[in-house]
Amino acid sequence: MRLIYVAGKGGVGKSVCSAATGIWTSGQGKDTLAFSMDPAHSLSDIFDIDIGSQPKRIADHLYAYEPDLAEGARDFFRRYKNIFTALFGLFEVEVKPEDFKSMPGVSELIFMDKLNDIYAQKKYDYVVIDSAPTAMVLPLLQLPSITTGFVTRVLGMRNKWIGVLNLLESGFGDSILSEIRTMRVKAETMRNALIDPSVATINVVTIPEKAAVEESRRLIETVEAHGVNVSSIIINHVISDCDCQFCQRKIASQTCYIQDLKASYSNKRIAVLPDYGAEVKGSSLGQVAEDLYGKGQLII
Ligand SMILES: Nc1ncnc2c1ncn2[C@@H]1O[C@H](COP(=O)(O)OP(=O)(O)OP(=O)(O)O)[C@@H](O)[C@H]1O
Ligand SMILES: [Mg+2]
Repeated sequence: MRLIYVAGKGGVGKSVCSAATGIWTSGQGKDTLAFSMDPAHSLSDIFDIDIGSQPKRIADHLYAYEPDLAEGARDFFRRYKNIFTALFGLFEVEVKPEDFKSMPGVSELIFMDKLNDIYAQKKYDYVVIDSAPTAMVLPLLQLPSITTGFVTRVLGMRNKWIGVLNLLESGFGDSILSEIRTMRVKAETMRNALIDPSVATINVVTIPEKAAVEESRRLIETVEAHGVNVSSIIINHVISDCDCQFCQRKIASQTCYIQDLKASYSNKRIAVLPDYGAEVKGSSLGQVAEDLYGKGQLII
């Protein structure tokens, strides 16, 4: 199973590129899951199909999945309730599952957990991950160290407190430890998958404008500092073939940023996608897939 993680700034075309990638790989006869990691899911709109919160077959070899965060938060809370009860109980705070989903980092944990389930099943040849604008890849990479730090601290408290917790309720302290270990193993499994180039490909989508290019540079620098290699950059919304003054000026400024990116990242594949002049969804995704993969700009 291969993971294709699509990252980038808000609104640059991540979901369109993720969906088009799914169209391409499934068209090659590879079972593919388009997995939305964006709490504000948009794959349903882009595929023009109501996907729902379970993996759904939407075409030959193509499945899509938009996990329901609220449902995930309830399940997650149920599964790890011992940790949360102990953790928040310390501060005499009662946390309800419905509050839990809006706590920082929780959506990353839930998506990581769902992705881990998919990864463990090994049911698909490709999983294309459409990420949130905030580039969840970072929190995903940091989760193991956060949970490891937590485990170390809990283990440090072990002799002192686990016995006491076990006294409160038989096995309570031990079950907390085993739950934290499970969470850590899952976070580590997904981090290891993302940093393994034989498993994961990270594609960064950008547009040829200053703010987007700068943000992409920072994103690439940061994820690569975590050991993850960004293999391709997709430059979207590129204008060509227009003589009007407005487009000529735009083309001149876009060309600078495109050349700049090509010069800085000569070790990466750089794909250029035209601005299609209208929203891209449904049947028009085939053209994007053709432009990205059919023309050999990106390879799978
Ligand atoms: N090359 C293109 N030409 C024309 N429209 C495009 C192109 N690429 C994307 N779009 C349109 O731009 C909008 C944003 O695209 P998309 O939803 O893929 O961006 P995103 O990066 O996933 O956004 P978000 O960060 O909000 O998740 C959509 O309406 C999409 O149809
Ligand atoms: Mg999106």
